[in-house]
Amino acid sequence: MTTTTETDKTTETDKTTETDKDTTSTETTTSTDRSEDTVTDDRPEDATTADTAVLALNHVSYAYTKGGKQVIHDLSHTFEAGRVHAITGPSGAGKTTVLSLLSGLTSPTEGRILYKGKDLERTNRYDFRSHDIGVIFQSFNLLPSLTVEENIVLSMDASGKSFDRPKPEIVRELLAKVRLAEEYANERILHLSGGEQQRVAIARALSYGPDVIIADEPTGNLDLATQDDIMRIFRELAHSEGKCVIIVTHSPDVARQSDEVFELAPLRRR
Ligand SMILES: Nc1ncnc2c1ncn2[C@@H]1O[C@H](COP(=O)(O)OP(=O)(O)OP(=O)(O)O)[C@@H](O)[C@H]1O
Ligand SMILES: [Mg+2]
Repeated sequence: MTTTTETDKTTETDKTTETDKDTTSTETTTSTDRSEDTVTDDRPEDATTADTAVLALNHVSYAYTKGGKQVIHDLSHTFEAGRVHAITGPSGAGKTTVLSLLSGLTSPTEGRILYKGKDLERTNRYDFRSHDIGVIFQSFNLLPSLTVEENIVLSMDASGKSFDRPKPEIVRELLAKVRLAEEYANERILHLSGGEQQRVAIARALSYGPDVIIADEPTGNLDLATQDDIMRIFRELAHSEGKCVIIVTHSPDVARQSDEVFELAPLRRR
């Protein structure tokens, strides 16, 4: 169970640093509260549901090939509702790998990913991905020749959820939420700027009402004002709507605007 406060910017459970004593540059921010980790990790699987914990890494290791070098080693961490979590660390540290594990795209080689206390391996992965989690990819993965509305409605249809209002109405509400004028609904993606596409990608991830929003470098190619605006949207989603927001970032500025920073240290080559 995490005891981190709203203002606590440190990492609770970065196990990679324990196994890698040479990565001194990142250890200073990841050295808090080891004893608590042990307590958390030894608890039964459903212990994480007791409060605001939504997603948890539980002693997770991952290697891309069977018997290959581990990219993630014995990593434990808890992600909570109502908070913006930033995942940071140098290139190659495994940030994108952690996001694909958390979003159920890949399975851990060892350990478990828990969603509301349940092992993802034992839940329907398709349902989890289409209902419970909204993923914003670095390259947006929007369909360029379709309009903004068509892209968003595709995700709503794929979720199989029923909606209480007409979808075009919901699309316009989502556009307002990400601060895009409603005229954009009928615009083709290929006519939009990078920052505008980023907003559409967020609107699409929100369209079926997931509990968790995951984004890989959501502000990577944006100017500072747009970056701050996108971060305001993420903070609102967490603080006003109780979403669990998890973003990978290289930007110290974005990390500062998050509620908690989880810093990954690279494993050394063996
Ligand atoms: N499909 C793959 N097959 C084999 N190795 C991979 C694969 N994808 C990533 N890796 C390796 O796993 C390690 C972690 O990669 P990952 O993409 O998770 O890093 P990252 O922290 O997201 O880096 P960046 O900041 O550059 O995006 C790297 O050493 C990378 O080369
Ligand atoms: Mg990456």
